[in-house]
Amino acid sequence: MTPAQAILGIETSCDETAAAVVLRHADGRGEILSNVVLSQLEEHSAYGGVVPEIAARAHVEALDTLIEEALLQAGRPLASLDAIAATSGPGLIGGLIVGLMTGKALALASGKPLYAVNHLEGHALTARLTDGLAFPYLMLLVSGGHTQLILVRGVGDYERWGTTIDDALGEAFDKTAKLLGLPYPGGPAVERAAKSGDPKRFALPRPLVGEARLDFSFSGLKTAVRQAATALEPLTDQDVADICASFQHAVSRTLKDRIGRGLDRFRTEFPQLEEPALVVAGGVAANKVLRATLDELCAKAGFRFIAPPQVLCTDNAAMIAWAGLERLSTGLSADTLDVQPRSRWPLDQKAETLIGFGKRGAKA
Ligand code: KG4
Ligand code: ZN
Repeated sequence: MTPAQAILGIETSCDETAAAVVLRHADGRGEILSNVVLSQLEEHSAYGGVVPEIAARAHVEALDTLIEEALLQAGRPLASLDAIAATSGPGLIGGLIVGLMTGKALALASGKPLYAVNHLEGHALTARLTDGLAFPYLMLLVSGGHTQLILVRGVGDYERWGTTIDDALGEAFDKTAKLLGLPYPGGPAVERAAKSGDPKRFALPRPLVGEARLDFSFSGLKTAVRQAATALEPLTDQDVADICASFQHAVSRTLKDRIGRGLDRFRTEFPQLEEPALVVAGGVAANKVLRATLDELCAKAGFRFIAPPQVLCTDNAAMIAWAGLERLSTGLSADTLDVQPRSRWPLDQKAETLIGFGKRGAKA
């Protein structure tokens, strides 16, 4: 049995500066000792999206204090830790450089091993930290930069089953909000407005529904929203609410079809598995309507549905520390100090490159 191990995690790939200390008990159970996140929302909201240069500078200003705070809250000085883990991609290169260089400096100064973590692997393995989920499982990652359906076979072992061929889902929420005059980030604003809207008023397209491939497409939906809004101008509050509700409804139906097919494929490939599971991660996973759709779909298909708590769905450093712990406890070797940040870094290296895959920071 591996002894208990603890790691400091650092996350700076987009607009959240984060540091966390996570412990992996000898029995494999994970425990978050601290999880500090500083969102840069205010710095970017005036621009309606993330500005890379501003993000990088904000990471520089906040990161050292955040790391100090994470160690203090955990009651674990650096010397007592087993390793350092820092996100090294994919993401905005300026932010990645800040986090990875800080990780390297700490590793060098303390003589601890360094794990350069793929941010997407952090999302992919979170359900093992929160729920001790066993491999294999299916994961839907839906954030501002990604929309991917991934088979998670093991640590470092991923197969992409579907991805967006144009916009990421979070991006579609953000763009819809922008053209309706709602604040950034758009997802929560659209969800809020949709509550008092009629989801049936506009028949918006459901891209790729009915197709055998497991990919996604959201740019046509965004265009249809624009056309509906332009035709009605000037928009009343009720018009905005109805468009938001119709948009969310179309997304919900699209996910139901795409993910439903994904669950079928998973069943076919793993017929022996007693309790197959779908995990959802990323900022869009906070959406209650979409969560309910996926929950219902899984219940009908006999799948366990796991949606980690909101703070662990959105960007955080606990998931980066945990990904490092998974590698450490599996006996995978640490990275050398010449490891480089990578703005593109797909989880499934063999998958064909489609637009929207393996990139982050695409929020407009
Ligand atoms: O994972 P995340 O915090 O950062 C990225 O890695 O992108 O995801 C942010 C995205 C944004 O596009 C935001 O609009 C969306 O998640 N989002 C939501 C909701 N909350 C955040 N989308 C739909 N409904 C929500 N409640
Ligand atoms: Zn993320």
